[in-house]
Amino acid sequence: MAQINPSILSADFARLAEEAEAVRGADWLHVDVMDNHFVPNLTLGVPVVESLARATDTPLDLHLMIEDPDRWAPQYVEAGAGSVTFHVEAAAAPVRLAREIRSKGARASMALKPGTPIEPYEDLLPELDMVLIMTVEPGFGGQAFLDIMLPKIRRTRELIAKYDLDLWLQVDGGVAASTIERCAEAGADVFVAGSAVYGAEDPAEAVRALRAQAERATSGASWACRH
Ligand code: DX5
Ligand code: ZN
Repeated sequence: MAQINPSILSADFARLAEEAEAVRGADWLHVDVMDNHFVPNLTLGVPVVESLARATDTPLDLHLMIEDPDRWAPQYVEAGAGSVTFHVEAAAAPVRLAREIRSKGARASMALKPGTPIEPYEDLLPELDMVLIMTVEPGFGGQAFLDIMLPKIRRTRELIAKYDLDLWLQVDGGVAASTIERCAEAGADVFVAGSAVYGAEDPAEAVRALRAQAERATSGASWACRH
């Protein structure tokens, strides 16, 4: 089942509760936390996440593009996140961090920048609930999808099958009607979309259309037939 997570990076930050409501029916709300160090952009932190968690029923999918996630990620679980993704490039002790996120009651997820391969982290996969393959350089919405990431998505899906893991595979960056099918065919099952959802006239309808497209592409994909 394909999941669509609209990214509020493309929403109006002064009207977050309404913007969450505008994508009612989405599986998760994707919240991009940037610290101006790990990426050259700054967004929001724990207090905004706490308020947003109170303002919406849609579960929050936190994407931490920050230095020292070992220190900060647990606070986002306490703030109300249902899923917390840290960048493995920034984590000092990814296994310990994933265990801490899970022990506090959220799903634990690891993100890879475009230049980071999955293979060195193969042994970590059983500790995780999701892997995020970035399909743009993290930091900004509205960038062009990097086709060159498709083989990494495929290889990650093969590892999930090899170990028979119950692990979601998320893609983030440039996901839109023109790219989502390629992502789904390669093995992604959770799709973040910022500009493609909030740039649409009817964001809730854009979510439904993207999900239908991903579902169709997934049902024809070889990796989905194995399960
Ligand atoms: C970028 C963020 C993405 C961003 C995606 O670093 O992680 O979540 O919002 O935006 P689009 O879908 O417009 O590429
Ligand atoms: Zn993101």
